This record gives sequence, structure tokens and C-alpha cells, in this order.
Amino acid sequence: MARKRNDPVVATSEASLAHDGRGVIKHKERVYFVPGVLPSEQVEFTPFNKQRGSFAGRLEHVITSSEGRVTPPCEYFGVCGGCATQHLAPAAQLHFKAQLLQDNLQRIGHVQPQEWLEPLSGESFHYRRKARLGVKFVPKKGGVLVGFREKGTAYLTSLKTCLTLDQRISDLLPALHELVEGLSVHQRIPQIEVAAAHDDVALIIRHLEPLNDDDLPLLEAFGGVNQVQLMLQPAGPDSIHVVWPKPPASVPALHYLLPDFDLTMQFRPSDFIQVNAEMNRKVVSLAVEYLELRPDDRVLDLFCGLGNFSLPIARSGAQVLGVEGEISMTEQAGHNAKLNDISNAQFNAANLHLEGAEKGLPQSGYNKMLIDPPRSGAQLIVSEYIPILKPQRIVYVSCNPATLARDADILVNQQGYKLLTAGAVDMFPHTAHVESIAVFVGPLN
Ligand SMILES: C[S@@+](CC[C@H](N)C(=O)[O-])C[C@H]1O[C@@H](n2cnc3c(N)ncnc32)[C@H](O)[C@@H]1O
Repeated sequence: MARKRNDPVVATSEASLAHDGRGVIKHKERVYFVPGVLPSEQVEFTPFNKQRGSFAGRLEHVITSSEGRVTPPCEYFGVCGGCATQHLAPAAQLHFKAQLLQDNLQRIGHVQPQEWLEPLSGESFHYRRKARLGVKFVPKKGGVLVGFREKGTAYLTSLKTCLTLDQRISDLLPALHELVEGLSVHQRIPQIEVAAAHDDVALIIRHLEPLNDDDLPLLEAFGGVNQVQLMLQPAGPDSIHVVWPKPPASVPALHYLLPDFDLTMQFRPSDFIQVNAEMNRKVVSLAVEYLELRPDDRVLDLFCGLGNFSLPIARSGAQVLGVEGEISMTEQAGHNAKLNDISNAQFNAANLHLEGAEKGLPQSGYNKMLIDPPRSGAQLIVSEYIPILKPQRIVYVSCNPATLARDADILVNQQGYKLLTAGAVDMFPHTAHVESIAVFVGPLN
């Protein structure tokens, strides 16, 4: 009898994972991406029809498992979209990330570093100090859901605990459910942004309708009992305001520390900060080491945010210019420079993805550069600006190996830079996100 189209089949997966952590199975001349499948496993899986240009499948069971397979420690794993690789041992996750970086550099960038940096890793649980939690009122599922999106759907996984969120935020989740449930506008709250600083935790509750008079005491009680800073956001980012500590009481500034550089970095809860404090410290220290700084250096820090790399660089005595798209961030960077008694770092705001941006940047006089762009990379800077400035040493910190590889191709194969070192950094354990660092030296070296 002919097999029905979607019957489960037995197959063996490829030796490496897809970029998003799914297993890859070649079956009947098709390539299926199957969540939960690890490299070189014999599995039974149900192939799905083509969706959005590719074939996916559902793992039914593992027949012969990969050496790296472990029992996922989190009860929500497999449904919650927050993590992708908890079923892989931490060392194997690191290997996957290093492999992905190597593949991207070779396949997209046609480059190979002179030496590979050993992948950097740290504590793999409760590392996440910044997140946006989705909120939804679904009576059929028992009321208010707070958590991350489910994998591949618009639904939310309602979390009572989370192994990647900062422990203080994870511990707040049950109380957060209760708080939102009690608010008059619980059907009109789409998101809660959370930020865990060195001493304090802050929450920003986005609401689409005004609160009523009964809501404020609930919010104040939540802030007081849980000792968190509580903010409301009724409209755009400028509408964020504090409800606890109760105004006019002062709200301590959130901050994180970079002890290797004796720095205190203040930020607002909606500001970009690197999500993983421990790994951020390691990456900053490594980047500074790779810049081989001397006091007479002049260093440009592009996509500088609130000065996370600029101020550690400035501690060497080098002159630093940080450039970043958000004015509020360059102001915060300037504030952090003052706070830490640093006078050799300046900050400018500019859109570095805008055609012609290079004309507003210094045309000479900077011999070293740090680049830490968003996922889209720094193509314009690399192709239009670097040939003008010709920095002799570039440290590129990336959160997307594909755009790093594209930019490395331009630097190495078109402009004659050498790629000295590259390596993966496990900034986001249990997810497929790959942070990496790469060091380039100019044609004169
Ligand atoms: C990966 S973050 C790095 C921030 C900072 N280096 C740090 O370590 O905290 C990327 C930064 O690029 C900034 N950015 C995004 N798009 C930009 C653009 N078009 N022009 C300039 N900066 C941009 C973001 O505001 C963000 O601060």
C-alpha cells in the first residue's frame, strides 16, 4: 500500500546543526530542518510539507542519540522559544557555535583567521539580565500569560520560572502573573521589559489603555514588597515614568560594573546593554587586549552604545571617540565618562547605516577601531569608511556570524586586511545566537 504523505520515517541527521539550532535531515533529496534533532542521530521524524520556502519536520523519537545529548533541564524547553539548544551539553553547544562561526567565515567570507580563539564561555544559567516578556490575556488558558513566544508561533509560553533569566527576575515571575491579573487593563498589556542591574531590578509595564485608580496601589505594593523599580509605559519610549519608588522619592540609577577597569556603567532600563554580565566583562577585557593599546593611540568605537567598550579603552590613556545612532545613548555614554572621571573619551551621534555617513566621521587621525554593530553588521562602514580612515587594527565584535563574515570578506579580500584571530563567545547559552570577536590588522602591518 502506498505510504501516506506525512507518515513518520526513520533517517539519520547531518553532522552539523542549522544556524538556528535545528537538526538537518536529508531525505529523498529534500532537506528538512527538525527541532530537537542533534548531529548524526538516527531518529524517527514526521516530514512536513514545504512552508515559507523550506521543509520542516517533527521529531517523534531518537533511535541512536548524539554523544552531546542531555536531558533539557527546563520544563518549558521544546515549547518556549526562549531557548533552542538545552538538549545539547554546554560543551557541545560551544562546539556548535564555534563551528557555525568557522562555516560562515569560510563559506560567506572566504576567509580564515591566522589562529582560532578558544571559544569563551561562562555560567550557562540565569545569565540574562535584559529581556522583553510577552503578556497576553487568554481566559481559555487560565488568564494572564507572561513569558516568551512559543517556537514558531505567535502564542506565549507562560513561565513560572526561567533558567536563563537573571535569578531575581525568574523569582518574580509568579508574582508578576498575579500583579497583571489584578490590573484593570490586564487585557491591554502586551509586554513587560525587565532589566537586572548590579543592585536593582527594574520593570517597565507597557499598557495600551489608561490605568484606573485601583491599579496604582497594586503597583506600589508590588514594587515595595518585591523591592523592584516599577515603571509604566503608556505610549512611546518618552512616556516611561516611575511609579515605584513612589515619586518624589529618588530612584537609584541602574548600573553594572566592569571591575577590570574600575568602571561603573549607568543605564536606563530601556537602554541597550549586553545581556550577559559575566561574558560582557570577558569580551570587553579581550577586546581591549586585542587593541594592544598605547597612550598615544586614537581609537574610534563605532556603535558604542553607552560606552561599554569606549570607557575601558579610555582607561589605557588612548584618546577615544565613540559614535552611535541613538542620541540618548551617546548622552548616557558622556554621563558615564564623567561619572568615572574620564576626560579622554568623546561621543557623537550618527546613523552609521546611512549612505554618506562616512562624510560626518573623522577622515583621519584614528589608528585603531572597535566595531560592535547590530545584527545587520557594518557593511557601509567597512566598504566606504575604512578605506578612508585606514585604521591599522580593527577589533570587530559581532552578534551575527553571517554579517561578520560578509564584512570580513570586504576587509580581507578587497582591502588587504589580515584576519589575525576569530572566536565564538557564548554570550547567550542555550540559544542559537552566536557572539564572536575578530581581529584585523591593516595592510601596512
Ligand atoms: C550590539 S549594540 C552594541 C552597543 C555597545 N557597543 C555595547 O557594547 O553595549 C549595537 C549598537 O548599535 C546602535 N545602532 C543600531 N543601529 C545603528 C545605526 N544605524 N547607526 C548607529 N548606531 C546604531 C544601537 O543603538 C546599539 O547601541
